Amino acid sequence: MDLRVRGDDVLSAMPTFEQPWPYLVIFVFFVRGFVICRSYNFTMNDIGSDKNQLDTPALWVDLETLERNIAALAAHFAGAGVGWRPHIKGIKTPAIVHKLLAAGAIGITCAKVSEAEVMAAAGVRDILIANQIVTPHKIARLVNLCRQAEVKVLVDDAANASAIGAAAHAIGVTAGVLVEVNTGMDRSGVLPGAATLALAQHIAQTPGLHFAGLQTWEGHNLAHSDPAAKQSGIEQSIGQLLASADLCRANGLPVRIVSAGGSGTYAVTPFIKGVTEIEAGGAIFCDLMYQSWGVALQPALFVRATVTSRPTPNRIILDCGFKTLTRGFLSPQLVGVADVQSVVLSAEHGIVTLSKPNTALRIGDGVDLVPGYGDATVFAHDVMYGVRNGRVEAAWPVLGRGKIQ
Ligand SMILES: Cc1ncc(COP(=O)(O)O)c(C=O)c1O
Repeated sequence: MDLRVRGDDVLSAMPTFEQPWPYLVIFVFFVRGFVICRSYNFTMNDIGSDKNQLDTPALWVDLETLERNIAALAAHFAGAGVGWRPHIKGIKTPAIVHKLLAAGAIGITCAKVSEAEVMAAAGVRDILIANQIVTPHKIARLVNLCRQAEVKVLVDDAANASAIGAAAHAIGVTAGVLVEVNTGMDRSGVLPGAATLALAQHIAQTPGLHFAGLQTWEGHNLAHSDPAAKQSGIEQSIGQLLASADLCRANGLPVRIVSAGGSGTYAVTPFIKGVTEIEAGGAIFCDLMYQSWGVALQPALFVRATVTSRPTPNRIILDCGFKTLTRGFLSPQLVGVADVQSVVLSAEHGIVTLSKPNTALRIGDGVDLVPGYGDATVFAHDVMYGVRNGRVEAAWPVLGRGKIQ
């Protein structure tokens, strides 16, 4: 028997259409796929090149600094005897999340179900969604994700807990649930004490749920500029959390997880006995916001930009506006440029005003900026470049980008 396939056979096996539009649809899909593949390849083609040759604006991390920051934070939390569950809402890049896990992180914290889905698909096994998941559609996604990873979620409402439990029970999974406790942030969460106990008891009695513990984010204490006031504010908040955990235990509920803390409280919260996990994440980039919150590490996240105009000797225009760096937080800082009076961001322009005239930077020159707030910068980018010794080592898709559901 002749098993060879002839061209005529292939052609005759292909469907034929009487109307021209199916051919048009196939053609459009082919062109779209080709364009997507080409653009991704261009990004990959940057690997090995000089960082300063990247087309701009480009988001990049200095890998040596990033790895040093991650190692320092891992050692800090290990030294305090707490688990590290970094919040990845501002990191969004699975390649970096795997660096965190390799350094000893016990799992991750996410803000959204869609972020958690991305991370589970990237192989992350232990995920806390530090948010309330309330719509039926998202609850369905949440309980289905429980098959892919060990997923835990925050609740602050008994009816919401029942809805998650019913959905989980219906498909034969158990969702981990922590009670979110409002310890002064006045965002979401139930009050400490009796209200926390009542919700914990409800969760423990609901089929499809596993009561995993308590959580708070004592972020309101970042507003204290005085370190002593900040420390005492944090201790007060965490004290309420721990007292609520003790109340649950006294009523026969095991509280395995007591989760709190962020980059802005990383110097205090891990050392309060009774906290089991710390959610600090953004500190790994140590941008200007984290520096202002007392993170004692080196900046690792940058945006490369190009000078597009020099209207006056006192003004430099860059190709990065608030769609690249986001407005509303601290202004970004130019690296190695003296006498910068201000950096103002309009949509697509960075407007740098110098306090002294200087024409050294010319049109076409590149500059690096430290973002004001990485959390509000990374989410605007498709790609994060990993740079070592000035050379591009990696081009990572920011897979958590746009994951706001
Ligand atoms: C629930 C929760 N945990 C922790 C943090 C701290 O995150 P990071 O360390 O990235 O600032 C935040 C910040 O908004 C948060 O919302």
